[in-house]
Amino acid sequence: MGIKAQLRKYRRIFIVCDRNVASFAGTLGNYPIYYLEAREENKNMDGVLGICRWLLEQNADRQALLLSVGGGITSDMAGFAASIYKRGIRYANIPTTLLAMVDAGLGGKTGVNLDSYKNILGVIRQPEFTAICPEVLASLPEREMRSGLAEMAKSFVIGDARSYSRLMDLMQKHPAPLESREGAGIFVDLIQKAAAIKEGIVEKDEFERGPRRKLNLGHTWAHAIEWWQKQDAGRTDYTHGEAVAIGMVQAARKSEELGIAEPGLSERLKRDLSACGLPTDLPCPEQELIPAMHKDKKATDSAVAFVLPVRIGRVIIRKLVF
Ligand SMILES: NC(=O)c1ccc[n+]([C@@H]2O[C@H](COP(=O)([O-])OP(=O)(O)OC[C@H]3O[C@@H](n4cnc5c(N)ncnc54)[C@H](O)[C@@H]3O)[C@@H](O)[C@H]2O)c1
Ligand SMILES: [Zn+2]
Repeated sequence: MGIKAQLRKYRRIFIVCDRNVASFAGTLGNYPIYYLEAREENKNMDGVLGICRWLLEQNADRQALLLSVGGGITSDMAGFAASIYKRGIRYANIPTTLLAMVDAGLGGKTGVNLDSYKNILGVIRQPEFTAICPEVLASLPEREMRSGLAEMAKSFVIGDARSYSRLMDLMQKHPAPLESREGAGIFVDLIQKAAAIKEGIVEKDEFERGPRRKLNLGHTWAHAIEWWQKQDAGRTDYTHGEAVAIGMVQAARKSEELGIAEPGLSERLKRDLSACGLPTDLPCPEQELIPAMHKDKKATDSAVAFVLPVRIGRVIIRKLVF
């Protein structure tokens, strides 16, 4: 079923849309639209209250569907607004970034930042659906595309060795896969595969008490790098996906040191991710990241729960003490 037919099933739809994809949202049908500036500093309670006030002005009732059209900032905010407006209305996502197609638009985590702390307020509430419309990626800046590639590769390292190899082959043959028919066909299939891996894991563990934690592969380092670069305006400013790429290589390295990963895994990841245009080296000595790793939400008192790859397609969770 096409997206327009899917939308016709709902009696009243209200769209929250990233301003950068306004023209795409206009093609979906004639629905009321609330525009957002998708910037991290706008992902806060004021932004969510703005959406709720607009819904009230529009007389949106409990039968309404709130449709997010945008990347992870938009779906996090719209999903959270839908979860609290009139004690909860339905919401759905049309992700417009690669990262949101394979990650942020799936799994039901919604929420906003509190002051300078990321994703502190929120709930887990599943969307009605997440529809992938690959044509919207045509306007996505290349760096955002690469950021999504890192999360896509992450899903395959966690659970699908064959798709991992297909992705790396594709990126070698078609560095801009959507620009050729052959490349686009394989790429869209791989987006769906990566999305299915996340959905499969979330289905088993919606509230992240067990296997869902595997999705944090590379993120202990990534969050620490994101914290580190904020400490000084002159530091390299990696996107989340770029930080995840570095984190995955570090995780593989640590896993090899512990005798868990097969030898050569970190070098393979480094080579493949670099070929996708992603950074793979830490921007500073690891010592400087350790305080932030301890603050990571996966850390208990002295131990940090690391997701360690065994080989492409399999990871384990291991608590390690520094
Ligand atoms: N809820 C979750 O499970 C989850 C998971 C991962 C990330 N996140 C959150 O997602 C956010 C990051 O989301 P993101 O990386 O998807 O992107 P984003 O929403 O931050 O958007 C990135 C930039 O791309 C622009 N953009 C989006 N789609 C476009 C398109 N098709 N063409 C042109 N420009 C476009 C946006 O306007 C913005 O400038 C972070 O706030 C992060 O915390 C949430
Ligand atoms: Zn991530």
